[in-house]
Amino acid sequence: MLIASEAEVAVAITVSKIATKNQERFVKESILEVQNITKEVNSPEGVLTILKDINLTINTGDVTSIVGPSGSGKTTLLAIMAGLDLPSRGRIKLIGHEITTMNEDKRAQVRSNDVGFVFQSFHLLPRLSALDNVMLPLEILGDKNAKNKSMEALSQIGLEKRVKHLPNQLSGGEKQRVAIARAMVKQPKILFADEPTGNLDKASTEIISDLLFSINHAYQTTIVIVTHDLLLAQNCQTMHELDEGSLKC
Ligand SMILES: Nc1ncnc2c1ncn2[C@@H]1O[C@H](COP(=O)(O)OP(=O)(O)OP(=O)(O)O)[C@@H](O)[C@H]1O
Ligand SMILES: [Mg+2]
Repeated sequence: MLIASEAEVAVAITVSKIATKNQERFVKESILEVQNITKEVNSPEGVLTILKDINLTINTGDVTSIVGPSGSGKTTLLAIMAGLDLPSRGRIKLIGHEITTMNEDKRAQVRSNDVGFVFQSFHLLPRLSALDNVMLPLEILGDKNAKNKSMEALSQIGLEKRVKHLPNQLSGGEKQRVAIARAMVKQPKILFADEPTGNLDKASTEIISDLLFSINHAYQTTIVIVTHDLLLAQNCQTMHELDEGSLKC
């Protein structure tokens, strides 16, 4: 029988502790946990199930894409994950908060502090300049440096010469960049972007994609992107595919 000496046992324990520590260093923490999410709505045809028992986990610092055909439930899922909408059943844990059991005020507080959202159709306020649109979330938080921070955010994305333009005086790509600056100006922990390159030409698509990856790199912001752009989707660490409300493995 092989009997290990005390010294051998001590070495084995030390090696296994180092291995565990190294593993821990590479095991990422989850920032978003989606468990058994189902969304049903009333429609003219009766109850419609838009999302069916969705389960997924998103790790801190990752860029994740969600793809799928039009109508498969991508926007609905993104809105539920960001706490903008509630599921019919299931649970969402976002940045340590059980947002599915919170009321709208509490969810708004989590969103306001830690979540950025870029909407499919920009949602810029039409009567506000690019600068005022970007300043808005900071002003809501009472940030006295709102103007300087917003000017800096706009110049970082190359729009320093467009700060006074109203949304209808900006190109589609510029509007999208303003929407990203507005979502990023308070440096959220997680950014959700719904088709950020939809309806843009190839050059603008590349600018927006590069911008999102550079934000992730510079601030370690976790990013979840809904996209039809397969190149953008494949460049993400993880890709999830929705089909008729179900997640494909
Ligand atoms: N409030 C609602 N009432 C009824 N049906 C809805 C409602 N919201 C969404 N739907 C339906 O749910 C399905 C999923 O919508 P959703 O907007 O999530 O799709 P999507 O994958 O984002 O599509 P697209 O790529 O076109 O943006 C669609 O068939 C839509 O018609
Ligand atoms: Mg959509």
